[in-house]
Amino acid sequence: MTETPRAGRGAQSGAVLLAGILFSPPSTAAQADGYTFLGALVEFEETVRGVDLRCQPGARLEVSFVDPGTVRVTLDRPDREEVVLMAPLVDLEPGRVEVEIVEEPDRILLRSTDLDVALERSPCRVTFLDKEGAVLSRDEPGLGIGWDGDEVRNWKTIDEGERFFGLGEKGGNVDKRGREWELWTSDMYGYDSETDPLYQSIPFFIGLRDGRAYGIYLNNSYRSRFNLGAGNHRYYSFAAEGGALDYFFFAGPGIPRVVERYTELTGRMPLPPKWALGYQQSRWSYYPGDQVSDLARTFREKRIPADVIYLDIHYMDGYRVFTWDPERFPDPEGLLAELGAMGFKVVPIVDPGVKQEEGYVVADEGLAGDHFVKYPDGQVFVGSVWPGRSYFPDYTRAPARAWWGGHLERLMDQGIDGIWNDMNEPAVWGKAFPVEVESEAGSFKRIRNLYAFYMAMGSYEELVEARPHERPFILTRAGFAGIQRYAAVWTGDNTASWEHLELAIRMLIGLGLSGVPFVGADVGGFIGGPSPELFVRWIQVGALTPFYRNHTAIETPPQEPWAFGKEVEAIARQAIELRYRMLPYLYSLFRESSRTGAPILRPLFWHHQADTTAYRPEYEHQFHLGEYLLAAPVTRDGARRQDVYLPEGRWLDLATEEVYDGSRTVTVDAPLDRIPLFLRAGGILPLQEVVQFVGEETAGPLRLVLEVFPAVGGSFELYEDDGTSFAYRDGAYRTTLFSLTADENGFELVREVIHDGYAVPDRVVEVRFHAVESPPDEIAIDGRRLSEEFSYDVERRVLTVRVRSPGIWQTITVR
Ligand code: GLC
Repeated sequence: MTETPRAGRGAQSGAVLLAGILFSPPSTAAQADGYTFLGALVEFEETVRGVDLRCQPGARLEVSFVDPGTVRVTLDRPDREEVVLMAPLVDLEPGRVEVEIVEEPDRILLRSTDLDVALERSPCRVTFLDKEGAVLSRDEPGLGIGWDGDEVRNWKTIDEGERFFGLGEKGGNVDKRGREWELWTSDMYGYDSETDPLYQSIPFFIGLRDGRAYGIYLNNSYRSRFNLGAGNHRYYSFAAEGGALDYFFFAGPGIPRVVERYTELTGRMPLPPKWALGYQQSRWSYYPGDQVSDLARTFREKRIPADVIYLDIHYMDGYRVFTWDPERFPDPEGLLAELGAMGFKVVPIVDPGVKQEEGYVVADEGLAGDHFVKYPDGQVFVGSVWPGRSYFPDYTRAPARAWWGGHLERLMDQGIDGIWNDMNEPAVWGKAFPVEVESEAGSFKRIRNLYAFYMAMGSYEELVEARPHERPFILTRAGFAGIQRYAAVWTGDNTASWEHLELAIRMLIGLGLSGVPFVGADVGGFIGGPSPELFVRWIQVGALTPFYRNHTAIETPPQEPWAFGKEVEAIARQAIELRYRMLPYLYSLFRESSRTGAPILRPLFWHHQADTTAYRPEYEHQFHLGEYLLAAPVTRDGARRQDVYLPEGRWLDLATEEVYDGSRTVTVDAPLDRIPLFLRAGGILPLQEVVQFVGEETAGPLRLVLEVFPAVGGSFELYEDDGTSFAYRDGAYRTTLFSLTADENGFELVREVIHDGYAVPDRVVEVRFHAVESPPDEIAIDGRRLSEEFSYDVERRVLTVRVRSPGIWQTITVR
């Protein structure tokens, strides 16, 4: 009894097919008319990590543990042989899992340390249970698994209060229940909250039943549909228009654990270059070159920090990819060097469509190298996009990826710093990219959803190969499960409206829950122009989103931070400065995400799963940034006060020093220049000085500020490295754990270097203890009483302690 490797199923499939003939209803008409459902168990076989069931009519269902909390279920239909999808999965190297198999009269039980799977015999149905015996998810008894033509589908029972999250980039509420969602990567200019599908296709969702979370990832790239209780009260279901029914089930019970397991399978975001955390300025399009350098200079003159400028399609010569317009950009190298000297990184747009034109080197090379997708009869496909009639590279082919990568490398050699992949759904005028067109990995029925994934994968891998010591930065519009391994994602062509500001937050939450942490929306809105107030509120929200880019469409009014008058400019600067001050904190969260898959921007319930208020739609614009920081940005026109739901704990309003008890809604002041931010008791928030760009060397002594809300427990791990290379993978980083203890006499902050592989510059550490009720009697550093270097602000109740040279202190004790 050995596990059947997925690749080598040929020998067995004959038997499966034969069984299919024996058991399936003879009439094909009956089949054409509806679903065939998985029937009773015929026999089963134990495998290394699970079982193979033979179920009527001649189907095989493989159920096997990937790790103790992850189970894979794969259907082998009697009438089709399907290849299972590999690209989104990073590591199917099986670890050790002890699986106990118990035969009971009406079911077979598979048990690991974390999860039980009950396989009912008649008919064949799958139920997942936790170790207390609670049902997490269960095949709908009457429907279960079925197929109809090319379609495969799984129905599961739906619980009264069951909630659903994820599915990547979706509109609607954060809870996806009550709608049927489609996954089919689509260019949706001007979408709204109801539009579906959108650009990303991520067939992963989290279910929450009776407070216990689980996850399901449908490993299938065909057009798929997730009915999460739409139009019926009996079930939820997931279906794909073709391919194998192949899904993974992840145990919780915590939502973080589910996402951790899912990203174990589909991969995690590698650390991006640190500059990609900075503020980024874009528009369709900045040109000519002089305008771009003016723009850069204006940021520096106005002392508004910024790291990146984007070049949209007008930098190209007639929208020919990998060219420069000779008049608008006569000297790209010179311009890029000038911008680089000012501390700017430049990211140009790269669309997949290659202009069909004889003599255009990229087209000629692509044809000669057989790099473009074709119709089944061999004719190269031509569709229209920005350059007019265009060819489309077949990124599923390794040689095509290498060829594309060579062009990217040349762009890098000219001085660009990252790549912005757009129109990669792939978009064509008329929308309907023909599904019969073929790639090496199959027709577009199979690979449309994967097109952008392969494009990003190729770009990332080729850039790493060309520059092994530089972390690539790629931004993509479309993608599939696993896209987080290669690219940051922005939410496409949104609109400058208040509705969109809130929608953006919900979409970013959904993406984060789907394993994609490095996400942002066009700040200010892409379509149309924001009012000054909307711009203010958006640039404030953006300061807290993982990817922070202001972008707007062609022919919209100017949208730079200074475009709305002096007052807005000052507030925008303040928001952007906050972003830069928060870099040590944010970068540490990025690092956490790269290790666990946790989102950076998290819904309230990520940390408060049992709190039903944390799921309420009226608080969906609030979010956690890490465990201790809660943001309640203003997203309503004219609002100067804001209702804020504070979950359990005590919370410090960082603007007013007011302390609130949680588990209730409070109303706080929210003047135009304020982003309501709350630090939970036990929270430690590391900040730095404002710099004009991430890599700027500051003249004076560097200062690290720790905003601390003392409590009995609480800690934060600060992560630091060189910000650009992969040396951290060989240990060249530093982690410092700050932790808090408290008793009736006072409190203590302990600093402990956990990993010391990267030298940080000598700097002053300023610790600001908040909500300190009275002036301290005694402050000691490493047991030595301190007489100076501290101050106590009676009115604000903030105690500030300054410590030079962080290498020498371990504890600050306050009594
Ligand atoms: C698409 C992109 C948008 C870009 C435009 C022109 O609409 O989503 O960001 O500005 O194309 O390239």
